[in-house]
Amino acid sequence: MDSYKKIIVTGHLGFIASAFCHMYKNKYEITGVDFNGHGSMIENLVDGVKDIRADISDTDQMKSLFEEIKPDAIINFAAESHVDRANENDLGFWKSNVLGARNLALLACENNIRMVHVSTDEVYGDAEENNEPWTENSRISPKNAYAVTKTAAEMMLQAYCNSSKHNLDVVITRGANTIGPRQFPEKAVPKAIWCFNTEQPFPLFRTPAKRMWMYVDDHVTGIEAALRLGKKGETYNLAPGFDSEAITEVVIEKIRSIIGKGIINKVDDRDNYDLRYWMHAEKAKNDLKWEAQYDLQKTLSSTVNWYMDNMDWLKAANMHFK
Ligand SMILES: NC(=O)c1ccc[n+]([C@@H]2O[C@H](COP(=O)([O-])OP(=O)(O)OC[C@H]3O[C@@H](n4cnc5c(N)ncnc54)[C@H](O)[C@@H]3O)[C@@H](O)[C@H]2O)c1
Repeated sequence: MDSYKKIIVTGHLGFIASAFCHMYKNKYEITGVDFNGHGSMIENLVDGVKDIRADISDTDQMKSLFEEIKPDAIINFAAESHVDRANENDLGFWKSNVLGARNLALLACENNIRMVHVSTDEVYGDAEENNEPWTENSRISPKNAYAVTKTAAEMMLQAYCNSSKHNLDVVITRGANTIGPRQFPEKAVPKAIWCFNTEQPFPLFRTPAKRMWMYVDDHVTGIEAALRLGKKGETYNLAPGFDSEAITEVVIEKIRSIIGKGIINKVDDRDNYDLRYWMHAEKAKNDLKWEAQYDLQKTLSSTVNWYMDNMDWLKAANMHFK
């Protein structure tokens, strides 16, 4: 099937899936499934999206959902996604990120529909300064418990795709570090915007870490292109241009200068701290006809402007977080 109408989007109360719903609510008939866990906000619900409260790791709930909706495709965004929390206790990460993906994959097989699985560049681990940018064939070497669960899910889905019993029609995306509207303030950028606006010091890890900073709208257009044009069993890096790479300190300083105030405190690095993710997205450009549209400056100004215009959202998110 090359055109999809009715799709299930998991994790629609979170950051990236809610951006997807905003962008594609008129193109697809979307049913969102979320258990309203960490990182989710009911305020992120998009008008016109059917809202189901359920846990993707619950087999019975997912079975009834598929029976009720009869989707043409599923996009799995739902995941436990914060490295610090995974370092403390990764059990829930295995449940959501691996068992949840397994449930959805088996139902996708049974119903003979496409599954797009949203994964991450963190599966590659840490890039050295002189490394070539990662391609989809680069070594997989996750360094933290979150990334390990994302890797485990990818491998399981590939096995289902390759087995003649399952024959899963899966496409996997590996997105770069993403920022933009509605990101939970446990992540660096919204946290910095909150701290700078409330005269609290922003805790910045002492060792400089490099990231490619991708705007969330670019990430979701890549995922949608993967749904339409991705080849069965293939994995696609989704990354912005190379000049969107910057150390966190530079990004936080730029945010401080856009806001015009703020205090930064250097703190000890977290455990399992990857210092660099570095990849290119040539395959997505060729196969998916996708390319990121935002450069670093536009990514940062669009992100900061949204939060400055939506301080009530940030305040509410910060209350959840505490
Ligand atoms: N944020 C990034 O920089 C980034 C980069 C690359 C890939 N990703 C991937 O994108 C996806 C979305 O990330 P995000 O940053 O939007 O995360 P998020 O934490 O903002 O949202 C995740 C959502 O999934 C829901 N969820 C988690 N477990 C669930 C379960 N068992 N059942 C139902 N709902 C569940 C949560 O309640 C939440 O609403 C994740 O798969 C993540 O690995 C994120």
